[in-house]
Amino acid sequence: MKRATEFDDLADPTFSAAVIGWQKQHGRHALPWQNTRDAYRIWLSEIMLQQTQVSAVLGYYARFLERFPTLADLAAAPSEDVMALWSGLGYYTRARNLHACAKRVMAEYGGVFPSDPALLAQLPGIGRSTAAAIAAFSSGTRAAILDGNVKRVFARTFGVDQFPGLKPVEDALWRRADALLPAEGIESYTQGLMDLGATLCTRSSPDCGRCPLQQRCVAFATGRTAELPVRKPKKAVPEKQAVLMAVVDGGQVLLEQRPDSGIWGGLMSLPELDGHQACDGAIPIDDVVRAAGVFGDVEETEALMPLVHVFTHYKLHIAPYRIAIAKRAELDSGYVWWDLARIEQAPLPAPVKKLLAQLAMPGLFG
Ligand code: ADE
Ligand code: SF4
Repeated sequence: MKRATEFDDLADPTFSAAVIGWQKQHGRHALPWQNTRDAYRIWLSEIMLQQTQVSAVLGYYARFLERFPTLADLAAAPSEDVMALWSGLGYYTRARNLHACAKRVMAEYGGVFPSDPALLAQLPGIGRSTAAAIAAFSSGTRAAILDGNVKRVFARTFGVDQFPGLKPVEDALWRRADALLPAEGIESYTQGLMDLGATLCTRSSPDCGRCPLQQRCVAFATGRTAELPVRKPKKAVPEKQAVLMAVVDGGQVLLEQRPDSGIWGGLMSLPELDGHQACDGAIPIDDVVRAAGVFGDVEETEALMPLVHVFTHYKLHIAPYRIAIAKRAELDSGYVWWDLARIEQAPLPAPVKKLLAQLAMPGLFG
């Protein structure tokens, strides 16, 4: 019976043949975790190599094996010893998971790692890709890896023009990774994909001239190696609006103390028109006049040039108004009348100070 799979349309045996042929000739063959089927050593290397380059791992790997020659030694060690040996390698959750995983394999599998990637993936610190790598290298199991490097190689080779971190895009990459597995030679193929991503198809300067995938690479053919993989889309920054009232009278401007918490906490600023934070709403000038009325008799109202201020978490559109008043009202201690001539000395946020510095320019406003 023909074993029909949903991956038939993505299958292409020439892909793995190209990777395997290149790995055998140009790939890495003498790394300390190669040329063994010892699952303990392979597992340890794969955990250390998550998000970390080979050159940084080499010394740690040697020291770990010297101190913990077997899985049983690692499982029995005090966690301080494990953490101390990991110190400097970074991403310390990996070390805690490593220790927990060693104990679990001792307790649940009698100290022998399972060869089924689905079982490996249930252990602490072992995701789907790491499980596949361990299974492939330690028992020749046909399972697909898809780490960051392989995502980059696939995104470029197949011209994936969406961010690979999106769930549906990642799912599609996993389907491809499964479909492209070779019938034979899973070890060379898996190592070949890793080597390609680490040594040729690098993030910033892929060496396409030496690449075994060049003839089929969409990014190379279309000159898009710098654009692929598509970077994580930036979150849209929320936009807010503030209506600020520059209430002026006789060369002075009315400043208001801001609450200690929130933006511009503890600084002074201009009184703000409440209820107009949304960006889409038009500002009825009547509201401005009414609000300013509590500060005195409004004689003249004028819209000033709007400005935009970018905070880390949002963009603030400032709609400023100049409001000339007469007959100052009695105000509480949160307000001060400040000479425009010495506005530079006021404890104001930069954009507000800039706005008022313009008002202070002689002759600009009667
Ligand atoms: N990165 C992840 N696994 C690796 C391996 N086995 N060899 C080299 N680099 C790797
Ligand atoms: Fe990467 Fe260049 Fe090879 Fe394409 S041809 S897979 S961009 S190294």
